[in-house]
Amino acid sequence: MAKYTVVTMPGDGIGKQVMPEALRVLKEVGFDAQYFHADIGWECWRNQGNALPDLTVELLAKYKLGLFGAITSKPKKEAEAELKPELRGHGLTYFSPIVTMRQRFNLDICIRPCMSFPGNPLNFIRKKISGGYEEPLVNAVIFRQNTEGLYAGVEWTNPPDQVRSALATHPKFMPFVGTPGTDLALSVRIVTRKAAYKIAKAAFAWARKFGYPSVTICEKPNVLRETSGMMEEAAKTVAKEYPEIALHSTNIDAQTMWLTKNPEDYGVIVASNLFGDVISDAFAGLVGGLGFAASGNIGDEVAVFEPTHGSAPKYAELDPPIVNPIAMFLAAAMLLEHVGEMDKARLIRDAIAHVVLEGKVRTYDMMRLPGGAGVTAKGAASMTELTDAVLASIGKAVEPELEAMAR
Ligand code: NAI
Ligand code: MG
Repeated sequence: MAKYTVVTMPGDGIGKQVMPEALRVLKEVGFDAQYFHADIGWECWRNQGNALPDLTVELLAKYKLGLFGAITSKPKKEAEAELKPELRGHGLTYFSPIVTMRQRFNLDICIRPCMSFPGNPLNFIRKKISGGYEEPLVNAVIFRQNTEGLYAGVEWTNPPDQVRSALATHPKFMPFVGTPGTDLALSVRIVTRKAAYKIAKAAFAWARKFGYPSVTICEKPNVLRETSGMMEEAAKTVAKEYPEIALHSTNIDAQTMWLTKNPEDYGVIVASNLFGDVISDAFAGLVGGLGFAASGNIGDEVAVFEPTHGSAPKYAELDPPIVNPIAMFLAAAMLLEHVGEMDKARLIRDAIAHVVLEGKVRTYDMMRLPGGAGVTAKGAASMTELTDAVLASIGKAVEPELEAMAR
């Protein structure tokens, strides 16, 4: 019997390419796991009218640990048009399986580490006042509330009368009272004290566990007084339990501006759903973009780890595959950390760091080439070559440059 069971959900497009590569890496570091394949994504929608099949839900409910690749999703009209003919006209509606999975298992904590690997040509560089350039090393971890806020999905165009009358009780709604329903779109930003407290608690616990000196709550409480106000209040409450960790508060707009000024000054950041989405993509851009961005979706029972990128359909059929599998490896490393296999996670991160620093094997994104069939002829490594390089670097001694970054 293997010690762990992982539900693998490759999904669509390049998700199917990078998943097997991650399993090779997990095997190489000696992760004692058995894997159950589960379907998810566009083909499931087309053939079954459900992008997240019941069997996948059952497997996740049973084994509680998931590794997910990426899925394709398309707008409403295309979704209906691509449905198998016999399933059309039965009122089936496409829902993103990722969002459904988050809601079904209440995966309310999203963790997105954004760490620069020294030597990555995609790292952010900054002009020095004294001349020349410097490369600040970013080591930020964004905690994003994953189930509420503006992404909770409570939205209308042409809201029902009860909603309109309820809104009319608010003085700030007065300028909109006369707007015809069909010209009025509403999204409700929902924050509950419980979830706000939980995400803040997770952020502080991480800061303590990994030795970050501060947590930054990134909201907009001066304008969004109620919702951002509650997020900030929760962070302040939790901060009292962590006297050794400082709490900073920033506004999302200013934070985005400061990002390119002093990104190295931020450690753990906590935010509501939309702001967390924005700030984590912004940080990811400083450390190499989609080829380097991974996240964990953590609930009380189930946890699912994934690269942040999508299915990149235009590269899905290329032979050899050209995409960067590092984001998927980082997702695998997060899974290892989640189950407490810290040494194995460290082996993966160190091997990636080694390959990136050495700079001999780079996928097209790291060479700033436009993607496409010709990239390997231009010197870019294929996906498999990059995996091979990572596998060959597992367990190698860590360079002094990397030791500083180790955690
Ligand atoms: P995408 O992330 O699939 O690709 C955007 C571009 O980023 C690609 O064309 C490629 O140039 C680059 N890229 C992505 N992953 C890369 C990797 N591993 N290595 C090197 N370059 C990489 O986003 P896009 O094109 O907006 O969406 C494609 C499909 O994916 C859509 O159907 C979308 O709905 C879905 N999607 C799914 C996500 C998920 O499964 N979590 C997240 C984002 C989009
Ligand atoms: Mg996003």
